[in-house]
Amino acid sequence: MDKLLIAGGKRLSGTLRVSGAKNSALPILAGCVLTPEPVALDNLPHLHDVTTMLELLGCLGAEVVVDEKMRVEVSARHLDQLCAPYELVKTMRASFVVMGPLLARFGEAEVSLPGGCAIGARPVDQHLKAFEALGADIEVRDGYVIGRAPDGLTGADFRFDLVTVGGTQNLLMAATLARGTTRIGNAACEPEVKDLGDFLNAMGARVSGHGTPEIVVEGVDALHGCTYRIMPDRVEAGTYLIAAAATRGRIRLNQAAPDTLSAVLDKLREAGADVSTGEDWIELDMHGRRPVAVDVETAVYPGFPTDMQAQFLALNAVADGDSTITETIFENRFMHVQEINRLGARIELDGPSRARVHGVDTLKAAPVMATDLRASFSLVVAALVAEGTTLIDRIYHIDRGYETIEEKLSQLGADVQRVSRAPARSPARAGASG
Ligand code: EPZ
Repeated sequence: MDKLLIAGGKRLSGTLRVSGAKNSALPILAGCVLTPEPVALDNLPHLHDVTTMLELLGCLGAEVVVDEKMRVEVSARHLDQLCAPYELVKTMRASFVVMGPLLARFGEAEVSLPGGCAIGARPVDQHLKAFEALGADIEVRDGYVIGRAPDGLTGADFRFDLVTVGGTQNLLMAATLARGTTRIGNAACEPEVKDLGDFLNAMGARVSGHGTPEIVVEGVDALHGCTYRIMPDRVEAGTYLIAAAATRGRIRLNQAAPDTLSAVLDKLREAGADVSTGEDWIELDMHGRRPVAVDVETAVYPGFPTDMQAQFLALNAVADGDSTITETIFENRFMHVQEINRLGARIELDGPSRARVHGVDTLKAAPVMATDLRASFSLVVAALVAEGTTLIDRIYHIDRGYETIEEKLSQLGADVQRVSRAPARSPARAGASG
């Protein structure tokens, strides 16, 4: 199992290209089964989760061709089966978004229930209610959701009980080929939903209002192939900005989408960062200063994203002052706290959804373990600041969502190595006295 060895204490400094967005790429790949014609996608990130989605498309019978620049062409002319098996769905919850497109085009789909995961229960009840609203017959049997709409789906007015990104994406895709008009209320406004809507329109769909809480989809008879470029990854961008700020460094991000990151950029400015932006670039400079502690509360877009909570908590851990981090989206997203405390941070949990952070001057290296994707990067941020060499175990979590992490960090001057086994004696301990 791969691990990261990070020798901390260096200010990050340099320029990076932001990768394509994982959370946009996954539903867009699923959306490729809406048409029998080939779809070409550019700017797909090279990530484990993307490979899993490509594997799922292959397992359904779609032809997938990937060139050396990660341009992917998906052709779902014929599918061999309409079932997404447990073996694949259990490794990645996002594969559940294949249900909407399959139901829409074939009137039939069988997708394994994704189950809970480390950050929370994450049910799919809203997805199922939405499919039923479009006239699908939904049955949950033997751990699978079986959907049937032999005469096709029919447009309807549907309002989500809560804001769900995946639920909105599933319904949006299902509605594209439904008879008549679908009005989606309380829709997720996340930029990845907007990107999916733009992609569907490039395939000939008639979607409007995406990126707002009210989406209207006028069903069409068929969708066609297209070429589409995936949007820049706002979470990756925000993560590197936070890492640079925590190390009192400076960074320029190219091929970024600053307009999708306002809440994070505002918090970074509050923390003392000098931030400037252009159409597709972001620059951050701490001028060597220690960050100032900032309270953060996660919220649906355009609020502060849950996917950057863990990283900001790591920044607050070494900031000047005390702060509170409140998580409102997932019920179990503070597993990184105990691990960061192993490096000498002073963070207390106040109930399941609040962390109180007392900023310390510096952290000290210790072996730690990654627990989920974003939590893993919070350990990287802490390790970059810490004195000594930190060993981070179970970094397969990081590889799900951060492209070539050690290359990108090295480009910023960090001392990072990927190793497949721990050194004989933990470096953190080797340097310790007593
Ligand atoms: C997406 O997950 C992202 N994943 C997550 O990113 C992100 O954290 C999340 O949206 C929130 O922004 C992808 O895009 C692939 P939700 P999703 O449905 O769609 C509850 C990362 O690190 N809910 O918006 O699964 C749910 O339990 C990942 O990249 C229901 O109760 O999230 C949660 O508390 C992790 N019933 C809340 O809604 C439902 O039917 C928001 O979940 C659906 C959701």
